[in-house]
Amino acid sequence: SVLEMEVEQIKKGSYDHFMQKEIHEQPHSLTTTMRGRLKDGGVLLGGLKEHLKTIRRCRRVVFIGCGTSYNAALAARTFVEELTGIPVTMEVASDLLDRQGPIYREDTAVFVSQSGETADTLLALDYALENGALCVGITNTVGSTLSRKTHCGVHINAGCEIGVASTKAYTSQIVAMAMMALAIGSDQISTQARRDAIISGLTSLPSCVSEVLKLDAEMKELAYSLIDSESLLVFGRGYNYATALEGALKVKEVALMHSEGMLAGEMKHGPLALVDENLPIIVIATHDACFSKQQSVIQQLLSRKGRLIVMCSKGDASAVCPNGSCRVIEVPGVADCLQPVINIIPLQLLAYHLTVLRGFDVDQPRNLAKSVTTQ
Ligand code: G6P
Repeated sequence: SVLEMEVEQIKKGSYDHFMQKEIHEQPHSLTTTMRGRLKDGGVLLGGLKEHLKTIRRCRRVVFIGCGTSYNAALAARTFVEELTGIPVTMEVASDLLDRQGPIYREDTAVFVSQSGETADTLLALDYALENGALCVGITNTVGSTLSRKTHCGVHINAGCEIGVASTKAYTSQIVAMAMMALAIGSDQISTQARRDAIISGLTSLPSCVSEVLKLDAEMKELAYSLIDSESLLVFGRGYNYATALEGALKVKEVALMHSEGMLAGEMKHGPLALVDENLPIIVIATHDACFSKQQSVIQQLLSRKGRLIVMCSKGDASAVCPNGSCRVIEVPGVADCLQPVINIIPLQLLAYHLTVLRGFDVDQPRNLAKSVTTQ
């Protein structure tokens, strides 16, 4: 109806689409995710407090989710392992169910879901409950089935997300899991300095996000150059393997372009065969412990005349791409484990603009639903 359409427009404010609004909202949504939770140099998560001791004693953490929520968990995996010392395994909810994979009483199963209503994730939750695991929920929806059925959890408080392609929930999920990892690891003296650095990184995150959002026009220009491409590869590793998967997922979901996120370390074991002058390839090479490995990946791709777009830390353009042989996206730096929050944003912007330029529906992509409540 006309009224419904007007209400929609009011909710979108000055933006053309919900996805665009939600991308640009991230400095604010991340602030609300952290509000009241970073206290006296530590982390306070009311919904986990009573269970931290049990989690610290568990044999492993199993992350379970679908789509973007799975990717957020993958981004969290490395720092959860680092800060807690507990082994972390990853499960796509449907695959865990297909395999009836082993879940034990000594496990902590962490369920990540924006809606808290995804059927596959909820069935995996029932399965983990039956097997006696401690079940933790990370969700954006207070009162959702996920938040009711889990033993404990963290609400990400990103605010209502309307665009089918998840954007602000992804970054808030990562930040919520960073706080969770800090809380679990808070009894370890040896990692105190590292935790302090991450907490100060969290504090500066909203302003870094505002800064990276200034790449909007540049990403629109990049989208323009990719309009007619048939495919796009995204290479990442370490903390930013998840960024590669999530960036590619955004492009395929909304821009309806074939796109694959890949582990850069696997490049020589297959994907290298695809490289030519035409296929656009995004390489994520921001500054962290994997940087020099990514530099050599770039060299190998360039020597095969790859069409490269390199994402690097501010000031690293000439280090990643010596003689202007590739396009560069320079992003602000934060603590290495939080860098995925920054790095996904140019890719969200790219997917958004690519969709608009290709003339597709941004907020209701073909064949997809915001919340898949059937198996
Ligand atoms: C659907 C949506 C995705 C979302 C996934 C998981 O496939 O289209 O955007 O990432 O479900 O949703 P959840 O609510 O569980 O995070």
